[in-house]
Amino acid sequence: MEHDDADPLGARRRTLITGAGGQLGHALAGAFGGDEVVALSRDAWDVRFDAPPLPSRPDLVLHAAAWTDVDGAEDDPQGAAAVNVGGTAHVAALGAPVVAYSSDYVFDGTKGAPYLESDAPAPLSAYGRTKLHGEAAAGERAWVVRSSWLYGETGNNFLRTMLRLGAARDEVSVVDDQRGCPTYVGHLAGATRELVDGTAEFGVWHLAADGDCTWADLAEAIFEDAGIACRVRRITAAQFGARAPRPAQSILRSEKGAPRLPHWRDGVRACLAALGARESGS
Ligand SMILES: NC(=O)c1ccc[n+]([C@@H]2O[C@H](COP(=O)([O-])OP(=O)(O)OC[C@H]3O[C@@H](n4cnc5c(N)ncnc54)[C@H](OP(=O)(O)O)[C@@H]3O)[C@@H](O)[C@H]2O)c1
Repeated sequence: MEHDDADPLGARRRTLITGAGGQLGHALAGAFGGDEVVALSRDAWDVRFDAPPLPSRPDLVLHAAAWTDVDGAEDDPQGAAAVNVGGTAHVAALGAPVVAYSSDYVFDGTKGAPYLESDAPAPLSAYGRTKLHGEAAAGERAWVVRSSWLYGETGNNFLRTMLRLGAARDEVSVVDDQRGCPTYVGHLAGATRELVDGTAEFGVWHLAADGDCTWADLAEAIFEDAGIACRVRRITAAQFGARAPRPAQSILRSEKGAPRLPHWRDGVRACLAALGARESGS
């Protein structure tokens, strides 16, 4: 690993976070709290444009800003590319080592086994194509971290949607023919820190929760752990009818010894515990 940008006098690492208003950006600010963190949300740096004047040159950039509206990208692929490809190029232009986040949606889901870092991507959707091109735009001094099905205690995500729907309904219909690794952003942020603080070389890394499940399995686990009495009706992706095609099976595993994340069930419990702590103000 290259630490040549770090201050030789051992001062705290200057870490810049893009997309700090998002769910992963929020978790990264916590996990890298020992660094001198500059956390920029979209209003402070819209990554479609060159970086604003910064207090100092960063030693490390955690690039969490992205167009994440998978269905919306089908309607506006150029808009999604401006953020996910052009924005990543602007981040790489800072010249510091970058963690660039990518997605299981760079794969088509037909492998029939977990995807490893060396597997050939073949995105099905406009969003997946922008993430794949964004991986290349991150440049040579980048850890390209692919993760999947992210959720956390902030923002719009599946877990929070299920808590809201489950409180209002007796039954929800959830897709049961897509299988992946639902990953808690707190666990991904911790594993990112392990990766960059360890001896990891630049390149593609798969960091996703252990285990795998369908969206319907995930919904049932959320209801069980949150004590919500709501039934899950299992439907197909075709019945759900989302605009963007998604891989049927996009389990991510590492063949390179990436940091291991906890099981997705532990992620659900950790997120619900953090939400409880937020609601009680502790
Ligand atoms: N969510 C998932 O399931 C998932 C799965 C795999 C990989 N990933 C990847 O993980 C990373 C983090 O995703 P996330 O789940 O934290 O998404 P998120 O909660 O949607 O956060 C993304 C953040 O980027 C900001 N953003 C959008 N356009 C921007 C721009 N032009 N300039 C600066 N900021 C901009 C958004 O701001 P606004 O809210 O104001 O638009 C938002 O705060 C992304 O690279 C994503 O592709 C996500």
